[in-house]
Amino acid sequence: MLAFGVPDTLLASYGRSEAGRAWIAALPGQVAEHLEKWDLAPDGDVAAGEASLVAPVVRAGGERAVLRFQPPKEETRAALVGLRTWNGSGIVRLLDHDPANCTMLLERLDGSRTLASVADDDEAMGILADLLRRLTAVPAPEGLRGLGEIAAEMLDQAPQAVSALTDPADQQLLRSCAAAVADLVDEPGDRLLHWDLHYGNVLAGEREPWLAIDPEPLAGDPGFDLWPALDSEWDAAVATGDPIRVVHRRFDLLTEALGLDRERAAGWTLGRVLQNSLWDVEDGATALAPSQVAMAQAMLERP
Ligand SMILES: Nc1ncnc2c1ncn2[C@@H]1O[C@H](COP(=O)(O)OP(=O)(O)O)[C@@H](O)[C@H]1O
Ligand SMILES: [Mg+2]
Repeated sequence: MLAFGVPDTLLASYGRSEAGRAWIAALPGQVAEHLEKWDLAPDGDVAAGEASLVAPVVRAGGERAVLRFQPPKEETRAALVGLRTWNGSGIVRLLDHDPANCTMLLERLDGSRTLASVADDDEAMGILADLLRRLTAVPAPEGLRGLGEIAAEMLDQAPQAVSALTDPADQQLLRSCAAAVADLVDEPGDRLLHWDLHYGNVLAGEREPWLAIDPEPLAGDPGFDLWPALDSEWDAAVATGDPIRVVHRRFDLLTEALGLDRERAAGWTLGRVLQNSLWDVEDGATALAPSQVAMAQAMLERP
């Protein structure tokens, strides 16, 4: 038996909807069932991000692993497709999964040491860039959503979101993001993207010093995969007094390491600002978030 309290981050993410509360209520039973089913012993305190519950376990043969629970949705199924395709190269290894609910048994990494613990930003970004280069070099397998479809959907939604914004400067910025996406929508790319590779989703490992976790894969252009890295530890970037300079330096490093066309990479990053802002507007926002404004400006005013 593993006793645990549901972490606050999960209550904040899922507590507001009926389905979310039902998922939380079912968690203890899910944990018990999977410990039994895969013959696992609990091995330490549970962890959580904003989306998932992660329980350290030991397999019958002594191998250290973690059980990861997340409400089944399209991104969770995509994660399984991606993890199988990458097969442990640069990313956490999938040991088993339950197709009924997307519960995963993953190799154990050091859950307490993310890339955010590396003090030098160039060093941390260099490590992330190398992982992202390897991950996005892989052609996307069948069965994932494609960036072409996602971009077309965003372009459909953009005009309404623009009119929901109250400040004309915000409206103009979101129009610029949409214009950049409109220029690229016909060449969406075909690589396997991680979608959420920020410092917190890179953990220290043993078979490789650092490994990615927590993918939400899609098929597309690697330029669409830079935003989480550019935005990593945003508060610290703001605290330097010049977050735009931090973004430019990271952008140079990433585009160089991945061998990307800078114009396209900037355009797809504006696509991520559009995607984030469409979600914010859907949630009721009437202004762009300051971090989205800064990122858009950094991409539109590159040196
Ligand atoms: N393979 C792993 N080994 C050890 N700890 C892990 C592993 N995967 C996740 N964790 C822990 O759980 C936390 C949340 O995991 P993550 O997959 O990023 O979920 P979320 O989608 O909620 O961000 C991580 O920050 C880490 O502390
Ligand atoms: Mg995470």
